[in-house]
Amino acid sequence: MNTRFTGIELGPPIEVFALQKAFVDDTYENKVNLTIGAYRTNEGKPWVLPVVRKVEKSLAADDLQNHEYLPVLGLEAFSEAATSMLLGATSPVIAQGRAFGIQSLSGTGALRVAAEFFSRILHYDTFYYSKPSWENHRLVFTNGGFKNAREYTYWDEKTHNIDLEGMLRDLRDAPKNAVIILHSCAHNPTGCDPTPEQWTKIADVIQEKQLFPLFDSAYQGFASGDLDKDAYAVRMFAERGIEFICTQSFAKNFGLYNERVGNIVFVLADTKEIVQIKSQLTLIIRGMYSNPPNHGARIVATVLRNPELFEEWKDHIRTMSSRIKQMRVGLHHRLLNVGTPGRWDHIIQQIGMFSYTGLTEKQVQHLRDHYHIYMLRSGRINMCGLNENNLDYVANAINETIKLFPEAQNDCTC
Ligand SMILES: Cc1ncc(COP(=O)(O)O)c(C=O)c1O
Repeated sequence: MNTRFTGIELGPPIEVFALQKAFVDDTYENKVNLTIGAYRTNEGKPWVLPVVRKVEKSLAADDLQNHEYLPVLGLEAFSEAATSMLLGATSPVIAQGRAFGIQSLSGTGALRVAAEFFSRILHYDTFYYSKPSWENHRLVFTNGGFKNAREYTYWDEKTHNIDLEGMLRDLRDAPKNAVIILHSCAHNPTGCDPTPEQWTKIADVIQEKQLFPLFDSAYQGFASGDLDKDAYAVRMFAERGIEFICTQSFAKNFGLYNERVGNIVFVLADTKEIVQIKSQLTLIIRGMYSNPPNHGARIVATVLRNPELFEEWKDHIRTMSSRIKQMRVGLHHRLLNVGTPGRWDHIIQQIGMFSYTGLTEKQVQHLRDHYHIYMLRSGRINMCGLNENNLDYVANAINETIKLFPEAQNDCTC
């Protein structure tokens, strides 16, 4: 039978989901999944945060809850609370009415709406993302209408640290109005964030060259266990009077991956354009998915607005981030103990969910084929995939693999 769909090119697989599937299909008993960015307990299980469960139960029992549509820009109580969490409850930009948020479909949806807003409404056509970055930035912004995708230097392969001079040079060369995507904390995949002094230099160039910063905040609270610390860069930009957008995800810090809870925060120099901006965002969202879902945003709003629940949640964040830190120490210790060639300090120096191990593609392939340990081609591992039961196995496997293929440069200093 004839079909008009003949000749469609096969799209390339998305690495992280392809690996996830390969892992699930793998029948080996001691397999280890260090791929997808999701929290796991020490038993290797997903964790529904107890405070989330509690709120879900109370929402289910609340007869006043219904399934009516939310407004196009989402649940205001959620967006206000999320904006305040990002900028700080006493933020002057909030007090002055210069900041607002709108609900989005998690972090990715926030980025997609922001991209379309920039390209269609402000006619910006060039964006920069770090090299390396979360692999979806390029696709989302290109689909959002941007014509020119460019990378700025971020990572120094030799020192395994941020190449700040390279980054500043690339930003200085960027055209006016280029959108610069910055990871607000826990840089994915390197786990290496700029220091406060480095952030100041980045802000100087952005201001001087009239670039537009877009902060991607997917891990607030997850990096250090402290919401305020993890918002340092965003709040510093706000304090300096720089206009920016910040896309927030609540997937990781609330464990609400499949509920798609996100927020787009606008920080403006002036309040008088807010009505017009919101009207254009309304048209973009109306024509894209009409309005966002309720469940996850309602949970987050309930927790952030209730002091007791908020404290409980902050405790959960500390539990998650400290387990990750323990795994960093545990892996580092074991790699040294078994005499793994190279320096491994970066494992304990990097922050957030991921470690950029410095393992080469060949070593990564061997770890998968021989030991059933799954990680991204780039050598990025999700620290949450490690636990007391598999740390020895993973450290031994890395040691044996490096000795078999001794080409890695592991002298990381981040
Ligand atoms: C840097 C970064 N930005 C954004 C996201 C978006 O995540 P989500 O769409 O699940 O909120 C992720 C998820 O892994 C990420 O790592």
